[in-house]
Amino acid sequence: MVWPVDVVQGISQDVHCLASILLRGNGGKSHKERLDFFYAPQAHAYDRFRANFLHGRQPMLAACAARLRGSQGLVWVDMGGGTAENVDMMSHTLDLSVFQKIYVVDICSALCEVARQKVKNRGWKNVEIVEADACTFTPEDPATLITFSYSLTMIPDFMAAIDNAVQHLAEDGIVGVSDFFTSAKYDLPNRQHSYIQRWFWRGLFDVDGIDLGPERRLYLEHQLEPVYEYNALGKIPYLPFVQAPYYQWIGRRRGHTKKNLARFPARASDEFEAKRPPAFPPTFLYSLSWEDPREDDKVLNINKDDTVLTLTSGGCNALDLVYQGARQVVAVDINPAQSYLLELKRIAVIRLPFEDVWSMFGDGVHPKFEKLFKEELTPFLSQGAVNFWTRKSHYFRNGLYYHGGMGRLIRAVRALARITRQQHWIDNLVNAPTLEMQKELWFATVGKWLLRANIVTRISAFFVTNPIVLWFCAGVCKGQLNLIRKEDSIYNYVVRCLNSTAECSHLRDSNYFYRCCLTGKFSRNCCPRFLEEEVFKTLKVDLASDERLLIRTTAFVEELRKRMYTKVILMDHVDWLEQGDIDILCAALKDQVKPGGRVIWRSASRSPKYAKCIEKAGFDVIRITTSDQYMDRVNMYASFYVGIRKGGPKIEESEDMTEKTFAATCTKNECEKLAHADTGESCGRASIPYGPADLHRTVESARNNPQFRGSLTALEIFTTTARHLQGENLHNWLVNGRQLFNLGNRHPQEDQHKQGKLVF
Ligand SMILES: C[S@@+](CC[C@H](N)C(=O)[O-])C[C@H]1O[C@@H](n2cnc3c(N)ncnc32)[C@H](O)[C@@H]1O
Repeated sequence: MVWPVDVVQGISQDVHCLASILLRGNGGKSHKERLDFFYAPQAHAYDRFRANFLHGRQPMLAACAARLRGSQGLVWVDMGGGTAENVDMMSHTLDLSVFQKIYVVDICSALCEVARQKVKNRGWKNVEIVEADACTFTPEDPATLITFSYSLTMIPDFMAAIDNAVQHLAEDGIVGVSDFFTSAKYDLPNRQHSYIQRWFWRGLFDVDGIDLGPERRLYLEHQLEPVYEYNALGKIPYLPFVQAPYYQWIGRRRGHTKKNLARFPARASDEFEAKRPPAFPPTFLYSLSWEDPREDDKVLNINKDDTVLTLTSGGCNALDLVYQGARQVVAVDINPAQSYLLELKRIAVIRLPFEDVWSMFGDGVHPKFEKLFKEELTPFLSQGAVNFWTRKSHYFRNGLYYHGGMGRLIRAVRALARITRQQHWIDNLVNAPTLEMQKELWFATVGKWLLRANIVTRISAFFVTNPIVLWFCAGVCKGQLNLIRKEDSIYNYVVRCLNSTAECSHLRDSNYFYRCCLTGKFSRNCCPRFLEEEVFKTLKVDLASDERLLIRTTAFVEELRKRMYTKVILMDHVDWLEQGDIDILCAALKDQVKPGGRVIWRSASRSPKYAKCIEKAGFDVIRITTSDQYMDRVNMYASFYVGIRKGGPKIEESEDMTEKTFAATCTKNECEKLAHADTGESCGRASIPYGPADLHRTVESARNNPQFRGSLTALEIFTTTARHLQGENLHNWLVNGRQLFNLGNRHPQEDQHKQGKLVF
């Protein structure tokens, strides 16, 4: 076989470099002499060999560029810039004309010579090669960007070099560093290396005068405030089986508050790469949040004083809570992949224009995801999220929603439709112009088969509803299955969920959950709220403050213990817990939820036992809805609860709350009708009947009103409405309200009002 000449030449250059690195040793007395001795024989081959070796350069430059984009007249000093290869690399992410001046400073004559040649060949006019020591070099103007790319470990007096950089850094400037590294014996979790790693790599590089110890990073962080870091292992050419540790790091002057320099995410010590619990697949289970935020809103009444704790799940609802104005939202999940998904959603909203975000999370496909990811998103993601999305970037090639646990389900639905040539059925169903037509189509086909429950349907259902499929595809755990089985068969449970959803919730205009399940994407007018353009614009501003949304990977109760909350969204995760853990959770809720604060949860059981535990922990517990009726657009749980922490202002007595609930609950006509239904003491009108149908409509219209922001617990609606009724109407309300609101033992007896004992 004849090899092309340049391949042979390339390999011979690499061998030359390797020989210099491994065998040449140290020559010369001064630092400069040693470097000249080391680099002179390999200067001509430097760029080729280092391209596959210095892995941190390009991403560190991209992370700096992402923070500088949009500015002009910048000054960049590349300390220990060698052959000026970094300038070439930077030109791929940032137009070099934004730099008024670029200094490539290097102490080694041979490398400076190669750099000068490069400047000439590229025709760069704003690049100056300076043969000087990084410890003393002084630029004409303060530098907006100072980089040390694989040079800090080679500078013996690193403190002087860092001090010099800090001295010449502009007020709003940043310092970017990438280099090899070994940790201290006890270091931050993301940086920690084992004894062998520390001993081996430090010893190996030491031969060439390169000092990999932790001191340089410690001093950097002593002098500057870190805004970004990424730690990894990188391959070494021609040395199989070993990977050298390296890092990227960006810092700014302490106390500087320029917006795009904010640290995202929080320090590595807070956001270290969490381990995936063994039961979880190596990806997320939910690509969107499977709880209806529209119903949550009504119960939670989020406001600017709220500190909210929620499970992360698909992350859409956490973004929704920020949009609704909560002061701080803490999203926590035990599965790191759920955190990485939310991190990506958050940073995409902050960094990208609407159309890019729509492609990624509306269509689930972005043809330029890799480029956007490297240049705009990676520089602001945690280390875990960068690693995860680097491995999973193909998700955006063939559809985000076809991946993860739930993605398997969506793929299966699509495959089944293809095999049975029923794609048109899906299209017709999700595009049915009215709810009525959707219902007709459903019950003429799938709905009908489900109800008949013949042998074929039962066998198919067995495959879909077995514990393995339900866990890995729908995130339904064993504990939850047992809860369902105690009250019903899984088959009936699923049929109830699907049939009543098809009957009551319009897939074309409103039910984005099942729409995504059937089509693998959202539509512009049927999507989670963060994908609506106006909401997106607000969120872009809101999320830019890193305090508004904290994303944590840990057990729920651990995050609950960290601060006081006004609202806590347990989702359905209490169904997953053993009694011991439920007790720990309830004790934490008791301590950490402020008086008057609210806890909401959903369960696969109509009356989960743990509701009592929450009640005992000092909450007024109200079951808002059950699966006896259509619950919400997700409609796959059996009950929805709120617990109100005792000791807060009394809801029934709060004038404010009464008006708010009342106004929000009723449309204008219904308010009038309620006013008419009053005995007329206030408005002087005679009483008119207000029957169960009116009540139902009142509540439904409030529930379906997207503008609705009032609180809407069953108890509140019930008590507020009762205040406006008297005589026969009040009597009817008390009797019929029982059918609409399950208030448990809070539901007043029919004769209570006659005895003047109407206490809720
Ligand atoms: C591994 S090379 C990296 C070169 C370049 N930054 C890159 O990423 O390709 C390290 C460079 O640091 C330079 N260097 C080491 N000590 C220096 C000092 N005190 N002042 C300026 N340059 C120095 C070396 O000459 C060498 O070019």
